[in-house]
Amino acid sequence: TAERTLVLVKPDGVRRGLSGEVLRRIEAKGYRLAAVQLVHATPELLTQHYAEHAGKPFFGSLVEFMLSGPTLAVVAEGVRVIEGFRSLAGATDPTTAAPGTIRGDLGRAWDGAVMQNIVHGSDSPESAAREIGLWFPGL
Ligand code: CMP
Repeated sequence: TAERTLVLVKPDGVRRGLSGEVLRRIEAKGYRLAAVQLVHATPELLTQHYAEHAGKPFFGSLVEFMLSGPTLAVVAEGVRVIEGFRSLAGATDPTTAAPGTIRGDLGRAWDGAVMQNIVHGSDSPESAAREIGLWFPGL
């Protein structure tokens, strides 16, 4: 049975013109785009989205980075899409993410306290439901 995940093209990805490339990879893999919207995040939204990282040393700079420009929020749908998109995205650190993945092919380290790694993908069905509710209220 199909499930849904929340994908974000973060401000670095939007700024670099990679939104279309990320959508292309999601569709080329065979997943369906259920919703797509450019969102200017607010501190309130980010505090909820990143609740599990509150208190970590990079939290402040993570929120600041996510406020630095628009984010493309995407709901992707398909069988095992949560796992499948995380596989497409690659490891968190873009320097060592495997080539062939979004982060491995398109990302690298920058100066700054926060890893700019182009995309986010929900890590579980519970996270996906919570995050879709935050970024697409009413969906
Ligand atoms: P993501 O996994 O989507 O959500 C948390 C984000 O915090 C992560 O992407 C990176 O952008 C950032 N991040 C995670 N770990 C670190 C770290 N150790 N140092 C700096 N930034 C991090």
